[in-house]
Amino acid sequence: MAKYFTLNNGAKIPSVGLGTWQAEPGVVGEAVIAAVKAGYRHIDCARAYKNEEEVGLALKKLFDDGFVKREELFITSKLWCSDHAPEDVPMALDSTLKELQLDYVDLYLIHWPFRVKKGTSISPENFVQPDIPGTWEAMEKLYDSGKAHAIGVSNFSSKKLENLLAIARVPPAVNQVECHPCWQQTKLHALCQSTGVHLSAYSPLGSPGTTWIKGSNILTNPTVSTIAEKLGKTPAQVALRWGLQMGHSVLPKSTNETRIKENLEIFDWSIPEDLFVKFSEIEQARLIRGNFIVHPQSIYKSVEELWDAEI
Ligand code: A2P
Repeated sequence: MAKYFTLNNGAKIPSVGLGTWQAEPGVVGEAVIAAVKAGYRHIDCARAYKNEEEVGLALKKLFDDGFVKREELFITSKLWCSDHAPEDVPMALDSTLKELQLDYVDLYLIHWPFRVKKGTSISPENFVQPDIPGTWEAMEKLYDSGKAHAIGVSNFSSKKLENLLAIARVPPAVNQVECHPCWQQTKLHALCQSTGVHLSAYSPLGSPGTTWIKGSNILTNPTVSTIAEKLGKTPAQVALRWGLQMGHSVLPKSTNETRIKENLEIFDWSIPEDLFVKFSEIEQARLIRGNFIVHPQSIYKSVEELWDAEI
């Protein structure tokens, strides 16, 4: 299993990246340093996570100490929903670059397919109609400028991804979505395979620490734990290795050094075919349903509309 996947523009995305969503300020910097020292070369960030400044300080320390060079790292960030207006897109990336103390990101994603007024938060009165083609054109200009070495989207259903592919001059390189053994994204996976869009998996462990997420716990799922026991691996490692064998990059979040290391030890073994087929028996449920976007005043009046019935 290669440590990289090749994107549709030739760039290489490391197959395991450190997730930083809900990595609290005060600990995220240490987590980034521990991860890079353990061998991670991919850090998944976003302006919405409100911790990019601390990630930037950690990266600077790693560069200054000569531990790693900028070109050896793959840094992702995401355009927040209040910055979708084409004129706001370059400014949003500039703010992220300033906080991360970088000249470019390796991958810049539209974080969600919805929009709120500039400078506002997610609240019914702030929703505005998104214009994905207009926002995407601004993303393409960032790609042309070299400030984003690849561009893509996040939380796009198959239908929304197809709509974007139909109008894009620069096709999206990545769709970053929730994906794990209990939400395998079968339809989107097939579309990504046939169109050359790389699927990157967020919450690859099902975000077990997130209390508002109601749903099955992957790490105690009987199929996953039985396979883990048979292979002498942890359930987390089995869930991550399943993602790699599906051809997805995986973005486990951890701020704990032991678990950061554990989540990278998934390259020198594999899930054999007779056990791999058992994943198809696992009951499926989307955990991150996007209820915070669904409202009578939003463009998405139901969870079904947001995900185009892929729930
Ligand atoms: P912690 O940061 O204390 O390690 P996801 O990436 O799916 O969002 O999951 C992140 C959650 O899973 C965090 O609560 C994280 O806690 C926990 N976690 C990360 N790695 C492991 C692991 N190897 N085993 C168990 N829990 C893990």
